[in-house]
Amino acid sequence: MSHQLLKGKKGIIFGALDERSIAWKTALAAVAEGAQITLTNAPIALRMGKINELAKLCNAPVIAADATNMEDLDKLMQASMEALGGKVDFILHSIGMSPNVRKNIAYTNTNYDNFLKTLDISALSLHRVLQAAMKADAINEWGSVLGLSYIAAQRTFPGYNDMGDAKALLESIARSFGYQYGFAKKVRVNTISQSPTVTTAGSGVAGFDVFFDYAEKMSPLGNASAEDCANYCVMMFSDFTRMVTMQNLFHDGGFSLTGVSHLVVEEVLKGRAANS
Ligand SMILES: NC(=O)c1ccc[n+]([C@@H]2O[C@H](COP(=O)([O-])OP(=O)(O)OC[C@H]3O[C@@H](n4cnc5c(N)ncnc54)[C@H](O)[C@@H]3O)[C@@H](O)[C@H]2O)c1
Repeated sequence: MSHQLLKGKKGIIFGALDERSIAWKTALAAVAEGAQITLTNAPIALRMGKINELAKLCNAPVIAADATNMEDLDKLMQASMEALGGKVDFILHSIGMSPNVRKNIAYTNTNYDNFLKTLDISALSLHRVLQAAMKADAINEWGSVLGLSYIAAQRTFPGYNDMGDAKALLESIARSFGYQYGFAKKVRVNTISQSPTVTTAGSGVAGFDVFFDYAEKMSPLGNASAEDCANYCVMMFSDFTRMVTMQNLFHDGGFSLTGVSHLVVEEVLKGRAANS
């Protein structure tokens, strides 16, 4: 049900690859709530993904930009303002990729060129997006910028590899740039730390299905879905959250504050019984 929470607002959505992407669901939710958007992704993702289907559903132009390339991002800011007829009110940074994860290279034996790419694509790109937006003065006062994070920024999840370090940096950039952008233009910057979610990026992580099930059993509300995350993003883009900035906001059904759950204890007991 639409509440027109984003009526009259304009935004840029990074990272919709296919219908499972959190950015895909967020684009649909933002448009249903009355927003006008542009969609963007890396040129290779535009060729391989399904973004044109989404563009039709959202009546949104697609503008190619590699989020590690400043020139692309500068052009994206100008092209988005032209297409939308003015400055934007929100930006979703929904970008993550680790060549080490993709190639199954162990954290302890990392390839440092890959590691630097992970940090560039998954974390520094948020800084680049914010810098490009600030230079172009592309965001209205009280605008809202969101990145998507994961609890591996605070706690170790071995299969998550160097993405844990990238997420720690991403959250730090949201705080540091959020301070600057808040004083300069009243723009807020936050990250949402999402439950494991079945998407291309998510399921690429080693052992994903096991920690998906584990998180489901550990979270009093269960894992938050991509649709739930999209709704939370809409709320964070809306005027109802205008005083929230520099935060990492857990959207995980309670996982982050649960030490152990009775469901996990039952699983351990079952394992013991099976072994005795
Ligand atoms: N899926 C999960 O379990 C989960 C959990 C917490 C946080 N997240 C985060 O959510 C975000 C979105 O991921 P998703 O799960 O929807 O997966 P996804 O694979 O659908 O989205 C990742 C996107 O990043 C884009 N991308 C990669 N390199 C890029 C570049 N150089 N320039 C521009 N875009 C680039 C991809 O094209 C893709 O669209 C990521 O930051 C991810 O780390 C995901």
